Amino acid sequence: MLDFGHLQRVVVLTGAGISAESGVPTFRGHRGLWRQHRPEELATPEAFARDPKLVWEWYDWRRGLIGACQPNSAHRTLVDMETRLPDFTLITQNVDGLHHLAGSQRVLELHGNIWRMRCTREGTKQEDRLTPLPEIPPRCANCGALLRPDVVWFGESLPAEVLEAAFAAAAACDLMLVIGTSAVVQPAATLPLMAKQNGTLLVEVNPQPTPLSDYVDLSLRQPAAQVLPQWWQRQMESINGSSAG
Ligand code: OAD
Repeated sequence: MLDFGHLQRVVVLTGAGISAESGVPTFRGHRGLWRQHRPEELATPEAFARDPKLVWEWYDWRRGLIGACQPNSAHRTLVDMETRLPDFTLITQNVDGLHHLAGSQRVLELHGNIWRMRCTREGTKQEDRLTPLPEIPPRCANCGALLRPDVVWFGESLPAEVLEAAFAAAAACDLMLVIGTSAVVQPAATLPLMAKQNGTLLVEVNPQPTPLSDYVDLSLRQPAAQVLPQWWQRQMESINGSSAG
């Protein structure tokens, strides 16, 4: 049992696995393919420059798929943690927006959000949940230039402010929960290792081992929506038990 009395600052890092039980395919699983394309071939500035229609067709398909999904009990557990813990930071690599939909108030989205689009000329952003899109590729209503998904593609930098906030939180936390990520994509994969170097307690929630597994203090080797609510419930009981005593 963790002693939350001494664990003041809690950070959670999530990846595609937390949304798996909502029906969103993970990236590196066998269901990640679309029309025989690997995500790495489509989620790049080069692919967009070459064939914006193809890239948008993929995103339109993904938006449709994600739009039909609901947050699961793991997303909801993190909402409860945010409400109850005084210093809580949620960092996600996911672009599906399910943390917001569940009710999380503050989410550091490292890789952007699939429901947002950005004008390739003016940089202006707009958000909608239209699916399917009426026009592919979509264009800026203001200037007519192509819109692109406001997500981070391979070879692009992460949004600087979000990344800075994520590193600051990871450097200063007492406990980090790493949920549903293969922990291979940088710079997100560095966050738990950096935290560990600073003495942070690491808990991994993932049915499969990852490169991080050797470094964690506790491994919960089960699907997140099954194990996280129970685990959090046990922590809460121990908090309540110790404050009553
Ligand atoms: P991956 O698809 O690489 O990894 C998903 C992880 O979730 C795997 O380790 C699975 O074992 C685990 N998993 C599967 N089902 C689970 C469940 N029910 N509960 C808990 N864990 C489960 O996804 P990410 O690590 O998120 O980047 O991928 C990182 C980044 O790679 C993505 O954000 C995306 C991709 O390229 C960009 O698009 C920039």
